[in-house]
Amino acid sequence: MSQIRNIVILTGAGISAESGIDTFRSAGGLWEQHRVEDVATPEAFGRDPNLVLRFYDMRRAAIQEKLPNAAHFALAELDTNWKGNLLIVTQNVDDLHTRAGARRVLHMHGEHLKAWCTSCDVRSYWRGPLLDRPPCPVCQARTLRPDVVWFGEMPYRMGEIYGALREADLFVSIGTSGAVYPAAGFVQNARELGIQTLELNLERSQGSALFHETRLGPATEVVPAWVAEMIK
Ligand code: OAD
Repeated sequence: MSQIRNIVILTGAGISAESGIDTFRSAGGLWEQHRVEDVATPEAFGRDPNLVLRFYDMRRAAIQEKLPNAAHFALAELDTNWKGNLLIVTQNVDDLHTRAGARRVLHMHGEHLKAWCTSCDVRSYWRGPLLDRPPCPVCQARTLRPDVVWFGEMPYRMGEIYGALREADLFVSIGTSGAVYPAAGFVQNARELGIQTLELNLERSQGSALFHETRLGPATEVVPAWVAEMIK
């Protein structure tokens, strides 16, 4: 890894699992408790906005009770010390990377702690509930929705992500099942660009065969160990 200068890291729900935030697809995971079609699509919001807002209000409240774990802190340490380009692309909508101190973080699926006003198109920092239809702090319209990318919507800042991949020497995927595109396709993009690829995950994922190397174990162990190698 000594030739590495620019790194793109993709994180998924597995990195926050040991902070007590449910993953989506494990046994008893979030998509077993709730149907995607009921809570995570624009059609669901159109059909039953109260159900959707209640679901996200609960999730928004819950993540504020959680704390970053050793894997988040290790990536924050890497971010602080890494002289080359580094981008932590997260599919997670929690704020644990930033609370751990990471700065170069891109939330491709949005953020629980933001509300998006569909009238004035401004995104505001938001900690409380949306169910009671509070006014937008900018235009006062009562048209705030969670700033979370739903199924059928385009993830954020894809141009920036592909730009970072084109510059990268190493792509690292952490704690994601590789089930949701376009993020699941990044390893394929990286391979086509001739970039080294590394997967850190609890178990083999759908895309494991595409990586040059896979290291299995809980994120709180494998991520700090990898970071220690990178910044030793
Ligand atoms: P998943 O729930 O699909 O996958 C979580 C991955 O984390 C699995 O591969 C687990 O093996 C792994 N894992 C679990 N515990 C771990 C631990 N302690 N350490 C390391 N790995 C662990 O979650 P994502 O891949 O993030 O999208 O899901 C991708 C997207 O699907 C989410 O962003 C969300 C969801 O539907 C939207 O809502 C748009």
